[in-house]
Amino acid sequence: MSNINKEINRRRTFGIVSHPDAGKTTLTEKLLLFGGAIQVAGAVKSNKIKRHATSDFMEIERQRGISVATSVMGFKYQGLKINILDTPGHKDFAEDTFRTLTAVDSVIVVIDVAKGVEEQTERLVEVCRMRKTPIIVFVNKLDREGKDGFDLMDEVEEKLQLNVRPLSWPIGMGQRFQGVYNLYERKLVLFRPHGKQQEEEVIEFTDLKDPALDKHIGESAAEELREEVRIVEEVYPPFERQDYLDGELSPVFFGSAVNNFGVKEMLDCFVEIAPTPLPRPTEERTVRPEEEQFAGFVFKIHANMDPKHRDRIAFLRVCSGKFQRNTNYLHVRQGRKMKFSNPTSFMASKKTVIEEAYPGDVIGLYDSGNFKIGDSVTEGEELHFKGIPSFSPEQFRYVNNADPLKSKQLNKGLEQLMDEGVAQLFTREIDGRKIIGTVGALQFDVIQYRLENEYGASCSYEPVNLYKACWVSSDDQTALKEFLQRRKRDIAKDTHGNLVFLAESAWALNMAQENHPKVKFHFTSEY
Ligand code: G4P
Repeated sequence: MSNINKEINRRRTFGIVSHPDAGKTTLTEKLLLFGGAIQVAGAVKSNKIKRHATSDFMEIERQRGISVATSVMGFKYQGLKINILDTPGHKDFAEDTFRTLTAVDSVIVVIDVAKGVEEQTERLVEVCRMRKTPIIVFVNKLDREGKDGFDLMDEVEEKLQLNVRPLSWPIGMGQRFQGVYNLYERKLVLFRPHGKQQEEEVIEFTDLKDPALDKHIGESAAEELREEVRIVEEVYPPFERQDYLDGELSPVFFGSAVNNFGVKEMLDCFVEIAPTPLPRPTEERTVRPEEEQFAGFVFKIHANMDPKHRDRIAFLRVCSGKFQRNTNYLHVRQGRKMKFSNPTSFMASKKTVIEEAYPGDVIGLYDSGNFKIGDSVTEGEELHFKGIPSFSPEQFRYVNNADPLKSKQLNKGLEQLMDEGVAQLFTREIDGRKIIGTVGALQFDVIQYRLENEYGASCSYEPVNLYKACWVSSDDQTALKEFLQRRKRDIAKDTHGNLVFLAESAWALNMAQENHPKVKFHFTSEY
């Protein structure tokens, strides 16, 4: 096997998604511990954007510096190089989180057994579904009382619209939690709270009818497990890896991250089934990882908080070939050659300059304002990667210039912040008013603060009554023209000049869709 194929085959790049508090940080930390990437528990946790800080954007600004270190966490396990891309999940999460999902090859969804499927998980999984990303589900906190396993599976199927296949099944929960039966490897894994899982607590158990089961977990729990596993085998389809890879079937594991329980089972299965770096579509053609020539795209930009150093880090996902330091590459949008002397990798909070990187890797490129989200870097071919869209924002405000002498600064600041993907800017056609749209309300404060501190501009906001912005198109130009004419007051353009419909309410959106069946309404900027 050629060297590049070897490197590709040993890489797995994924993201963990969950609603805040479900246990994403804890799980990440346990995974890193397995890989020996960190020695002490708590290392990731201390980097986490603290919950109480969600309404305090200054605190988030401060933490932004720290969170850059956890943007990508790499570790080695069973000879594989595994990259976890952080999908920040605080209350006011931004589009960044969505966009990170465009750079992963699979995801693990963490669900709190007591709370079930929560809102942010729904929204993030929706993006994964759209992209047919393979998903593994980890039901966490089994050491606490929670929902019945089957009810929870129904909820996942219904709310996340996933077909599930449990690969482990819990034995009781809360006070009565005794462990899980691993259906994938046919092993009984017994739970000892607050201790690291020991080797001897994993027992081969191919036949649950074996009376020895009663000895291990007690008669009634054994009966219950036999019955439940029978139902699982009957109700859910058999696990086929291909279905998982196609995004059609999600294996489910149960455990308790904080107790490091059930995590290894999932990880061992993950390394066996998770996809290696996948091909990526571009407008021109599909880019395959094993191609000789390097190509990659920027999916996230992280600005320096220090106003004196307006440099940024652009995160680039390598999609094909081998990336090398100090080599001339083409910045496709700008049509010019660039060299990177300090490309950085982030291995669990350790930053190091790297010499080379392979498909599946994410590298940080120091940037003085050249990059936009979605930009391609190649060895010379003019490729434009697809599937890095903007998402329909849901919070809106008019933005006004509060200092007439600084309008240039304001425009530049807004432009750069939008390039970074902090929010989206729409200009209404009828009166030229500027409207900022975001996914989380906190971004408004962040923008105002950064405009002032980094660009010396000041802005003020005004409320605007909007429900959603969506992109519109039509194969029928007459129908589109008529729509634009009729809804003149609700039409704007995004920063790329695309047409956007600003809906005042869910009802208004429905009406527009009903009255203009030939017009298509899109909830991401790519259609
Ligand atoms: P997040 O990144 O998804 O927001 O969640 P995080 O890992 O920070 O976990 C949120 C809380 O849930 C933490 O408690 C964590 O210890 C707890 N937790 C995680 N896994 C489990 C589990 O398997 N069982 C139980 N019972 N709790 C779990 P905290 O009190 O908010 O923080 P801490 O003081 O414990 O660190």
